[in-house]
Amino acid sequence: MISLLSHLSYVAVTSPDVEASVKFYEEQVGLTVVDRIGDDVYLRCWGDYYRYSVVVKPGPEPSLATMAWRTSSPEALEEAARRVQEAGIEGRWVEGHTTGRTFEFVGPWGHSMTLHWDVEHFHATGAQGSIYPDRPQRRSRHLGAPRQLDHVTVATSDVDAFAAWYRDVLGFRIMARTVLDEAPISVFSVITTNEKSHDLGVVLDGSTRAGRVNHYAFWVDTREDLLQAADVLMENGTAIEYGPSIHGIGEQNFLYFREPSSLRIEVNTGGYRNYVPDWEVQTWTPSLGSNNFYRNSQMPMSMTESFPPADGPSATEEGVPDEIRDQLLNPYATHGRG
Ligand SMILES: [Fe+2]
Repeated sequence: MISLLSHLSYVAVTSPDVEASVKFYEEQVGLTVVDRIGDDVYLRCWGDYYRYSVVVKPGPEPSLATMAWRTSSPEALEEAARRVQEAGIEGRWVEGHTTGRTFEFVGPWGHSMTLHWDVEHFHATGAQGSIYPDRPQRRSRHLGAPRQLDHVTVATSDVDAFAAWYRDVLGFRIMARTVLDEAPISVFSVITTNEKSHDLGVVLDGSTRAGRVNHYAFWVDTREDLLQAADVLMENGTAIEYGPSIHGIGEQNFLYFREPSSLRIEVNTGGYRNYVPDWEVQTWTPSLGSNNFYRNSQMPMSMTESFPPADGPSATEEGVPDEIRDQLLNPYATHGRG
């Protein structure tokens, strides 16, 4: 298969209070607003090569409105759309904001995906212009401000089938997966269109709501930037949900927090680069440190929440079966290995 997709280009999320979310992204994360169209607000990181990477839209609940990939060529856009339709998914062509002829579809597990070739390359001028030719904009003066959008992690009822569909139809490489120690249940996988461990992650979702998202992530250059981001958030009164620490899978430093809608945001850095075209998927277990490289802390239960919230009275348990949740949260208690 020719390379169809090049990288994640933007995410669109919904918020019940768009202005509160936008204010948070500007003042606490360090993004800037570039466009307002109707009720939608378009934001960018200082190092994003295209005009925007985050769109905040009004909605009754926090959710992922769509996740967008730029294709590798105009021809690849047509081929990707053809392959999606050949897989039995209709989709539709729309005119996107700065993305021209744009293909939108809802994947088999309910996630909206947007594919496009056209973009507006961003080149700031004046006070925001950079002295360096490669930079679309001068480095932000906001401590810990992310350079660019990095990845999105969605939730689905069948992790391995999800990864296989996006591999077979759109050419993602499956890099790694986490299977429970006690049972052959796949709870997490990372898939990629480029050299990173993932631009699309997937976690197991035991709820009955399709198309949910667990978090999306920004990239900072160094671990010091990530620690400064954590410092700024704490000083601004934003709780850190998990981290700073390092994932085993992907070996990225991570930091998780919530924006005002309650949607989970990650900042990450580091990790491997992998260009191997015939890479074979690696299987981890929680006790090997898939989630926590150092195997010395438990993931907070709140991290199992995805968005929008699951149906049912127990919003924090999210329908994840007890044995899965218990092992994810406390993978080292009953497993002495390593
Ligand atoms: Fe992540």
